[in-house]
Formats: sequence, structure tokens, C-alpha cells
Amino acid sequence: MSGAAESSRECEPGRVTLIGAGPGDPDLITVLGLKRLRTADVVLHDRLAAPELLAEAREDAEIVDVGKRPGDDVQARQRRIEKLMIERALTGAHVVRLKGGDPAVFGRGGEEIEACAAAGVACEVVPGVSSFTAAAAAASIPLTHRGVSLGFAVVSARNAEGGEPDWAALDGADTVVVLMASRRLERIGQGLIAGGRESSTPVAIVERASTPEEKIVSATLESLAVGELSGDIKPPCVVIVGEIAAASRRTCPRSRRGRRRTQSAARS
Ligand SMILES: C[S@@+](CC[C@H](N)C(=O)[O-])C[C@H]1O[C@@H](n2cnc3c(N)ncnc32)[C@H](O)[C@@H]1O
Repeated sequence: MSGAAESSRECEPGRVTLIGAGPGDPDLITVLGLKRLRTADVVLHDRLAAPELLAEAREDAEIVDVGKRPGDDVQARQRRIEKLMIERALTGAHVVRLKGGDPAVFGRGGEEIEACAAAGVACEVVPGVSSFTAAAAAASIPLTHRGVSLGFAVVSARNAEGGEPDWAALDGADTVVVLMASRRLERIGQGLIAGGRESSTPVAIVERASTPEEKIVSATLESLAVGELSGDIKPPCVVIVGEIAAASRRTCPRSRRGRRRTQSAARS
């Protein structure tokens, strides 16, 4: 069946599909995500969505970049996205909301699900490969590993109000993974050391995981805390903290996405 023939606008009530686009490599969207994207009438996408994925949409689909712009009021932008999504769905359209990584991991996917529920619009969530698993895979770090990492916590370095995690409360997790971290490296190092971790704890920082610009930096909590890396790390990046992060230094480089590796900040 052609994409146009599958279009839902004429025969079904409108609906929304939140799709995880994955971390950057267009191959990392799920098969279901791709199927839904190909039948969309409207695609609302984030800045991080790969252009190759947008090319998968129907030629007559309406494609709208709703990504963050410098100086944006984040709350106001989010409300505008939800309004547009609901307005289009209420015309009978199948609206795809294409979001980076997994839509429900620090992506405000929950607010979009709530907006659909409030408007009586059907909403399906298609999970995606989150940047935290993609970053761990890029650095060959198993987030759980028998005898080394029995569990992990995933946090954002800052919340919408500008606050930060309770670093001491994370002491129970063998491995801590931090998103939205590039401008808070010092605070992550200082907070986790103050929260009870050894300053020599290994750290791996993965920039632009799964893309041709992927870069992996090995460090320690101390080198983060003293600002040794500030200025060297660009967003988007994921910080992996714990003994298991040393696994990154032991493995052979993998070439598929041409990753770069720097070791300079490891003081352990
Ligand atoms: C608003 S959050 C969205 C997270 C997304 N929903 C996910 O599941 O990955 C944005 C953060 O995700 C991380 N991120 C997204 N893509 C990344 C990538 N390709 N490499 C490293 N970090 C990435 C960065 O920490 C960035 O600040």
C-alpha cells in the first residue's frame, strides 16, 4: 500500500504518534517508528532529528521544524508545539511528533501525552534508542556488568528550574549517567565527590554519539571538578561515571562511525 493510500486524514479521526528518532544515526530509528513516519500527514520534528529521516516522510506531508532556537522561552515554545500538534490532529491528520532519542527520556514527551489526553486525541508512543544507551554503546561501556555495575541511574545535570540532582542520593547506584551535561561538568564532578564518590572514579564523556562527529573522552571525577575539560566538550554529550567507565579505555576503537577518542583528562 502506498504511503498516500495509508494516509489517515480522510477516513479516520486524527491521532498523534510520538516517535523516538534515536540519537542521531538515522539507522537507529525502530522499524515501527519508520512505518509510522512514512504514513504521517504532518511531521513536527526536533532540531536533532536526522535529515535522512525527514526524507522518509510522504512528499505531500507537512514538515515543521519545532526545534529549540537560541533565546527561546522554553515553556512558551513547548505550549506552542502542543497547540500545533492538537490543532492538526483535530483536523483528522495523523501527526508524527519526531523527537530525539526516546520521546519519554528528558524529552517532555509526558507533557505531549497529557496534552493529547486533555484534548481527547489518541496518542501512540513509539520508543527510541536513547542517547544514554547510544553513548554507552559508542564507548563500549556495558551499563550493567556482573561484579562491577549492578545498576545505573540516569539524571539530567539541570532541571527546568535550574536546579541540579541530589548527588548524594545517587551514591547507591554503581553507575551514574548524566544528560544535558556539557555546561555543568565542574558541578557534576564536585557534586558527585561531595556526595561520596572517590575523586579517582573513572568518567567517560561521549559527544554526538552515533554520528560521524562522535568523540569519546576519558576522565576522572577530579578532572571534571577542577574544570580541566571545560571548553573542550561540546553539546550534545552524555557523561558516564563509575568503575565501568574504565571499560572504555580497555576496548579497541570501533570504526563504523569513525569515532575520535581523546584520553587527555584521565588522571587516575
Ligand atoms: C533534551 S535531552 C533529550 C534526550 C533524548 N530524549 C534521549 O532519549 O536521548 C537532550 C540531551 O540528550 C543528550 N543527547 C542527545 N543526543 C545525543 C547524542 N547523539 N550524543 C550524546 N548526547 C546526546 C545530551 O545530553 C543532550 O543534552
